[in-house]
Amino acid sequence: EDRTNASVMETLLTDKIDGEVMDAAGAGLKVISNYAVGFDNIDVDAATARGIPVGNTPGALTDATADFAFALLMSAARRIPESNRFVRDGRWKTWGPMLLLGTDIQGATLGLVGFGRIGKAVARRATGFDMRVIYYDPNEKPDPAIKATPVDFETLLEESDFVSLHTPLTPDTRHLIDAEALSRMKRTAVLINTSRGPVVDMDALYEALRDERIFAAALDVTDPEPLPTDHPLLTLDNLVIAPHIASASHTARGNMAWMAANNLIAGLKGERLPHCVNPQVYG
Ligand code: GLV
Ligand code: GLV
Repeated sequence: EDRTNASVMETLLTDKIDGEVMDAAGAGLKVISNYAVGFDNIDVDAATARGIPVGNTPGALTDATADFAFALLMSAARRIPESNRFVRDGRWKTWGPMLLLGTDIQGATLGLVGFGRIGKAVARRATGFDMRVIYYDPNEKPDPAIKATPVDFETLLEESDFVSLHTPLTPDTRHLIDAEALSRMKRTAVLINTSRGPVVDMDALYEALRDERIFAAALDVTDPEPLPTDHPLLTLDNLVIAPHIASASHTARGNMAWMAANNLIAGLKGERLPHCVNPQVYG
């Protein structure tokens, strides 16, 4: 095999890789290795049509992301970022029975949209808080090791005190959480998104939070990213926000680097990628 003209692509989730980019790389392009588990930034069909394997990093960031989803859940429920601002702004005058009242976590119902690796890891954490866990995922079967009940999407929205999103971004999940979905949620509910920004209709979310039709939202991902500092969402106290850092632990980022490098090297050598999202290229 002639590798003299071989090229490889190591991509971040902020790199949009379409067929045009692949063609510009030339016929020697051997592999696209994404440093992420999500791969909505890559036109996988275009890669498959060109016989180019695409790699990702499943598993490496499951626990870090589940930890962070839970941290967001607790931050929004107990208003920690808002409390932090309250103290720093000099507004703390006295202890008060009603000061910064939040939502209970213990015993609450957690609704997981997506019950893959990360959704299941969040469910395991929730058992420590005696939460009732329900999930909506048309593709996943119940896992006997995890106490969680499958429900339809409407039931999940209506019964959950916390709705946490763990689905990939696909044409089916774009704006899955829209005005209609938000209107079905409890007024006391909290929405948590550590998946992809466009799964939520940000305008509809702004209106729901502004009108206090849900209690709060906690977002690690937004649409667009970065979120402009003059975005109306940032005027609201019942929004907790982070700059897409759910997988940003030392362990997770290290494991992701190893997996992405192993995919890249395998592709360069013409070997099967250890983690390939389009195995159809191997015929
Ligand atoms: C991060 O968002 C990832 O998909 O790995
Ligand atoms: C709160 O600080 C309490 O002592 O109840």
